[in-house]
Amino acid sequence: MSHTLEEKFEAMVKIRDELLHLTNSPLYSYRIANKYFPVVGEGSHTAKIMFIGEAPGKNEAETGRPFCGKSGKILDEMLESIQLNRSDVYITNILKDRPEDNRDPKPEEIALYSTFLDRQIEIVQPKVIATLGRFSMEYILNLFGLKDKLSTISEMHGQEFISTTNYGPVVIFPLYHPAITSYNGGSKTVLLEDFQKLKKYV
Ligand code: URA
Repeated sequence: MSHTLEEKFEAMVKIRDELLHLTNSPLYSYRIANKYFPVVGEGSHTAKIMFIGEAPGKNEAETGRPFCGKSGKILDEMLESIQLNRSDVYITNILKDRPEDNRDPKPEEIALYSTFLDRQIEIVQPKVIATLGRFSMEYILNLFGLKDKLSTISEMHGQEFISTTNYGPVVIFPLYHPAITSYNGGSKTVLLEDFQKLKKYV
């Protein structure tokens, strides 16, 4: 089903409101105690490309914006390398609240927050879903019936996997998480090369 721009906007606002009051989340009290915000997502509701990261970090939880810290700078640089900016794409995460000490998301947290992500995919209806890091790669491949293709991110990054949705075909494109560049010097070149392959969808 396609939605008007207004319907898309309202559906995103509904998600934001539900997240604000997500008292059954194991991360809710941590959010409140730290005066953090849930991080819904940012960008165009009609984007062809949707980027999905793992979970908000400290900067993101403090501002309510995805990828606005160190990893975000790398992501911006990657987008620029293919003449895109944030308003051309949609950027979000699986988890919408920050796990304490930036630990890995727990399966029950992924189960809870991914219901919001599923709705966001349905709203934006992207032609390409670029996953950032192994958590979103695993979640999205499972979601789109590609579990049998699942391997390590070092084998899967930069490859296209085709699936179908109720709004048409979708390309799943696993990428390394931008944070990798802070501990693996050579990875920036790899990320830049992988982004070049996204160019044809722009
Ligand atoms: N890392 C993520 O996975 N998401 C963000 O929004 C920021 C850092």
